Amino acid sequence: MELAGTTALVTGAGQRIGAACAEALALAGAQVAIHTHRSHTMAGECCATIRRQGGRAEIFAADLSDGQQAVQLMEQVTARLGRVDILVNNAAVFQPGHLRDTPLTAWQAVMAINLTAPFLLMQAFARGLAPSGAGVIINLIDQRVARPRPGHLAYTVAKEALWTLTRITAVELAPTIRVNAIAPGPILPAAGMAGEAFQRVAAATPLGRAGSPQDIVDTLLFLVRHPFITGEMIFVDGGEHL
Ligand SMILES: NC(=O)c1ccc[n+]([C@@H]2O[C@H](COP(=O)([O-])OP(=O)(O)OC[C@H]3O[C@@H](n4cnc5c(N)ncnc54)[C@H](OP(=O)(O)O)[C@@H]3O)[C@@H](O)[C@H]2O)c1
Repeated sequence: MELAGTTALVTGAGQRIGAACAEALALAGAQVAIHTHRSHTMAGECCATIRRQGGRAEIFAADLSDGQQAVQLMEQVTARLGRVDILVNNAAVFQPGHLRDTPLTAWQAVMAINLTAPFLLMQAFARGLAPSGAGVIINLIDQRVARPRPGHLAYTVAKEALWTLTRITAVELAPTIRVNAIAPGPILPAAGMAGEAFQRVAAATPLGRAGSPQDIVDTLLFLVRHPFITGEMIFVDGGEHL
């Protein structure tokens, strides 16, 4: 319960990796703001699980493609739960596309959710912490930033930029706020991805298998707890980035 007395906001926490992160932070003692966009039922289940285990959680809805809603999300969390100490930028869209076939609207939507929303949330988070406060930001990136390749153009560019944002703000916000990143590899198949295709990707990694949300959770807790790491990105990908 070493996170007792802290409040964490996890975006996209209704299901999958985000829900696992929210539950783990709550189990470690943090009060958790579960952000969701569409997964209201699953967010309710995540919240109920946390409360059953004696933890504290509230659900907040926001469409992070809308910058105003991203700013309002932090305001609403702060108004209901108090100052936020841990921000996990997990929400994202994994949109396929190449240069020739990515319309401006698709490019802008991916940038808004995967890059601008984390930027706005980090900004609101930093402004909300007292100069003497201590905060932690964890950005979920992707192993593919180590070896950019065609297929998910806007997604990869947004994640690359989020990694740059992570390193710059790690310096800007030090020493009160630490900013780190996690770069997952094959953890869960993306929406619409066939299980077989996912297993083929996982089998092709050096470790030859998929990871699990628990692998991300363990890394998240490590980065939240470690007082001397900032501006770092940990690949949790079975070596896929190599
Ligand atoms: N899964 C993997 O193996 C893998 C691999 C590499 C990197 N990652 C990264 O790890 C993170 C978590 O992965 P994941 O697969 O669990 O993510 P995911 O299921 O694809 O998406 C996470 C959440 O993002 C939220 N979201 C999407 N559009 C939104 C919008 N307009 N406004 C607000 N929220 C929105 C959704 O919330 P609602 O469901 O509530 O609508 C969704 O549940 C992501 O950042 C992803 O890029 C994952």
